[in-house]
Amino acid sequence: MNAVIRAITRVAVFQHGCRVIGIEQGFDGLIFNRHQELTTVGTREILALGGTILGTTNKGNPFSYREFDENGDIQERDYSRQALDNYNRLELDCLFVVGGDGTLQIAYKLFEMGIPVIGIPKTIDNDLEGTDYTFGFQTATQVACDALDRLHTTGRSHQRVMILEVMGRDAGWIALESGIAGRAHIILIPEIPYQLDKVLEKIKLRQEGGSPYSIIVVAEGAKEVGHDEITLKTASTRLQGVQQYGGVGNYLAEQISGKIDLEVRCTVLGHTQRGGTPNCFDRVLGTRLGVHAVHAALAGKFGHMVALKTPDITLVPLKDLAGVVRKIPLTSQLIQCAEETRISLGR
Ligand code: F6P
Repeated sequence: MNAVIRAITRVAVFQHGCRVIGIEQGFDGLIFNRHQELTTVGTREILALGGTILGTTNKGNPFSYREFDENGDIQERDYSRQALDNYNRLELDCLFVVGGDGTLQIAYKLFEMGIPVIGIPKTIDNDLEGTDYTFGFQTATQVACDALDRLHTTGRSHQRVMILEVMGRDAGWIALESGIAGRAHIILIPEIPYQLDKVLEKIKLRQEGGSPYSIIVVAEGAKEVGHDEITLKTASTRLQGVQQYGGVGNYLAEQISGKIDLEVRCTVLGHTQRGGTPNCFDRVLGTRLGVHAVHAALAGKFGHMVALKTPDITLVPLKDLAGVVRKIPLTSQLIQCAEETRISLGR
């Protein structure tokens, strides 16, 4: 996200003599009027920094803002008018909104209320329609792949089943790509509910073939045939209002361990996937999207999202994206590639 902030600031200031205002803490900053001027000097060193210098929040949906009342209960309130008034008071010409499907849906609603919006796609899950890749995904996938490389060591030398749980609520892009790169033997994704007997069959086949260890990657949103996703009871989600997934790795470990004569261990990668230094691809993609977002604004293409359509950055109407999650198509060559190289997808 910092790559986007830096690119927008540099192009807008150096090329077009504009002023750039950074809204702090996502939509919260628009609702409660918190912002700062962004300068080329102030954004000079941020390209390699993960996260965002402006901060972000999950609770700041201006149309249904979740906050505690005096009794400590959660109430939802519509702050969209207040957000619009604050936007108008700042006398801005355009609002760049960086986010995933939920954030871009809100962006479209603000556009419909009269705010000239340009959307910029962002999520590590890579599950946004209209763009080949979202930035953050490649970095997260590399973290997962590195973890798999390390898990091979213990798996092989201790002859164990090693399970890695990665993020991916509704789409298994991180699991599938990191699993292929990280030489996983079994990859379980939300798009293909798994059959336990198929998972066990693969582990046993490997044992019989002289490889008494297996590496499994499981996306947090993966589920067994006939069952629901597993949610994390310990997470506090009251403000965000979205149930957290998590636990499928340990659930699977329990399922497997009673049925085979190998030790089973589970590692949950969690938020380590979403932190740290963005890799080269993500820095370049963020920079390109930021540059083209300014071009789009100058051309008056409001209500659109900048998107990667390799090799170009193009524009996609925000209205076409509302509520659409890009799952891995079951006919995808990536799935075919995994299965033809003898990775089991649990089916
Ligand atoms: O950005 C999407 C995502 O990474 C999902 O894969 C995951 O379920 C979620 O974020 C975790 O969100 P939080 O940071 O709120 O726990």
